[in-house]
Amino acid sequence: MAKRHLITCALPYANGPVHIGHIAGCFLPSDIHNRFLRMQGKEVLFVCGTDEHGVPITLKAKNEGKTPQQVVDENHIIIAKGLKDFGIHFDTFSRTTHKLHHQTAQDFFKTLYDKGVFVEEVTEQFYDEEAKQFLADRYIVGTCPNCAYENAYGDQCEKCGRTSSPTELVSPKSALTGNTPIRKETKNWYLPLDKMQTEFLNDWVASMKSKWKSSVYGQCNSWLKEGLKPRAMTRDLDWGVPVPLTDAEGKVMYVWFDAPIGYITATKEAAGDDWQKWWMDADTEMTHFLGKDNIVFHTIIFPAMLHAHGGFNLPTHVPANEFLNLEGDKISTSRDHAIWLHEYIQDFPNKTDELRYALTSILPETKDSDFTWADYQAKVNNELVAILGNFINRVIVLTHKYYGGKVPQGALSASIPDVSTKLEEALSIFNQRQGLEFYMEIARNGNKYLQDTEPWKLIKDEANAQKIADCLYTCLDQVKKLGKYAQIFLPETSTKIRKLLRIDSYDVDIQVGHVLGDPVLLFQKIEDEIIAEQVQKLKKGKSNELIDEAEPKNMPIAPLKPEISFDDFVKLDIRVATIVAAEKVKKADRLLHITLNIGLETRTVVSGIAEHFKPEDIIGKQVTYLANLAPRKLKGIESSGMILLAEDATGQLTFVNPTDKTAEGSVIA
Ligand code: 2FM
Ligand code: ZN
Repeated sequence: MAKRHLITCALPYANGPVHIGHIAGCFLPSDIHNRFLRMQGKEVLFVCGTDEHGVPITLKAKNEGKTPQQVVDENHIIIAKGLKDFGIHFDTFSRTTHKLHHQTAQDFFKTLYDKGVFVEEVTEQFYDEEAKQFLADRYIVGTCPNCAYENAYGDQCEKCGRTSSPTELVSPKSALTGNTPIRKETKNWYLPLDKMQTEFLNDWVASMKSKWKSSVYGQCNSWLKEGLKPRAMTRDLDWGVPVPLTDAEGKVMYVWFDAPIGYITATKEAAGDDWQKWWMDADTEMTHFLGKDNIVFHTIIFPAMLHAHGGFNLPTHVPANEFLNLEGDKISTSRDHAIWLHEYIQDFPNKTDELRYALTSILPETKDSDFTWADYQAKVNNELVAILGNFINRVIVLTHKYYGGKVPQGALSASIPDVSTKLEEALSIFNQRQGLEFYMEIARNGNKYLQDTEPWKLIKDEANAQKIADCLYTCLDQVKKLGKYAQIFLPETSTKIRKLLRIDSYDVDIQVGHVLGDPVLLFQKIEDEIIAEQVQKLKKGKSNELIDEAEPKNMPIAPLKPEISFDDFVKLDIRVATIVAAEKVKKADRLLHITLNIGLETRTVVSGIAEHFKPEDIIGKQVTYLANLAPRKLKGIESSGMILLAEDATGQLTFVNPTDKTAEGSVIA
């Protein structure tokens, strides 16, 4: 059992504000975990900050006619304020442009250098003679060799998503001057990940299999299987942490080298001279919260750096989340298809818990999930207002009505199941969605008990006095429990409930005769017009220039499977089919019940794609169907065969269908 817990939350880039995708990806999960551990009385340090280096920030600055420092200063303030207002309280919210961070990252770099960890290599890079600088991949644009898009970046085409190297672009141009760059030699320092893989990473990653969730372990393993390559840890740029070597003038650290060291800097800011106990003490356990695009950096590159440095703990848990989509579409900052945290806070004053609730209920823990305004409204109106708020309000109102607001002398009823243990167990293994479901079960159980006991009927007969007292005493105990666990999920609501109960802390017992506060409504219904406005606002999202976004991450493509024989292949009966009906499977968030016309007959398939597609959007679609896969039962429905889908490295699913309408039953071979 760890004595101490260091929680890190991935540092957001300061090239723009944060949106709900960031919140669901790591801010909310890390905050929930932090609150949960603190409630259990654990010693915790929770750190984050803004990631203020990297090429996208310099590009943004150039586009806006500002300095990179101005860009990060502005965004740091917006991000820090938004997170604070949203109830996410770090021990430190640092910045990678802080002097202490530069020192920390330089000391780290120097240690690796002195230990001979880096491999120096001279390579040819593109150089802009007019701007007199080497061009980072993002500073080179040209025609994509894959889709012929003319403004593809050197490292990635924003149109077709292909990742490539700048030398593959057709007619590369400098984004700074428009000139054709020359190629010039330059020296950089590489982390020999290939060597580190065999010496350390393979074994260490294998040893984490039982700790990490399968998606994290799986992604990590697929990088390892592909074989790691040395990666440059320095760049020819003028924005970043300067490389602390005499022959490295004009070079800075690769942003992914210095960013995770930001966790160490933030710890130093929070704990001062005591920082080492959080990083080096065997009694401390480290948990990194992040989105799936950051997995490789936290499970391979940063651990390799820490190991090479020596003395540091490596992460125990990496509960990475998948992505959150918005209204069925990828969140995109360049298309402004996003809900920005600071805008939500402005548009919905005093409604942070409502968004926290709606997002926690759909955290993309195992699959990408989809935020819709309609779902947000339904969650607020049908769950927070109708169940949680309603129960608490009724209990307070009835206590006022029957006992003048004083806690009656009663006994706890045994008829309400206690789900606290299940709730805490779920949270301890990072099943936060499930934790929230148990939380709502406390309110549902309370409501049901109150409804079944019907004190408003019992009151008619004086002989029932004790029953009514027991009922309200029990309900007040449930209210207190709801307030206590709201500290984890709904901090504002937890404070309101505490005020209703007129207690200073949830650790105290409420005494008989204690006077409660006056009833107040905890939540208000969200009207249709408010939702319609937000949907409208999303539609207006401008189609901006394709300037993006984050430092590209080059996700791995799934490795090739072992060879099969032609005989194996012909065993597969693959055909064209058309979806004729689709509906959600009850009590199964991820499943769709699909009826297919396969030419010869209709077939039923239960497919785990409900978080990617709405039933109404896929009816009429032609698909590729594996007809002779043995049937199996899912949620009591027999599913025959399988609809084939393409999944990219980010988990995005697409149907594989014929380009022209094709007769159902046509054989694919
Ligand atoms: O992907 C991102 O938004 C990065 N800024 C995350 C950095 S996490 C850490 F390593 F600092
Ligand atoms: Zn392309």
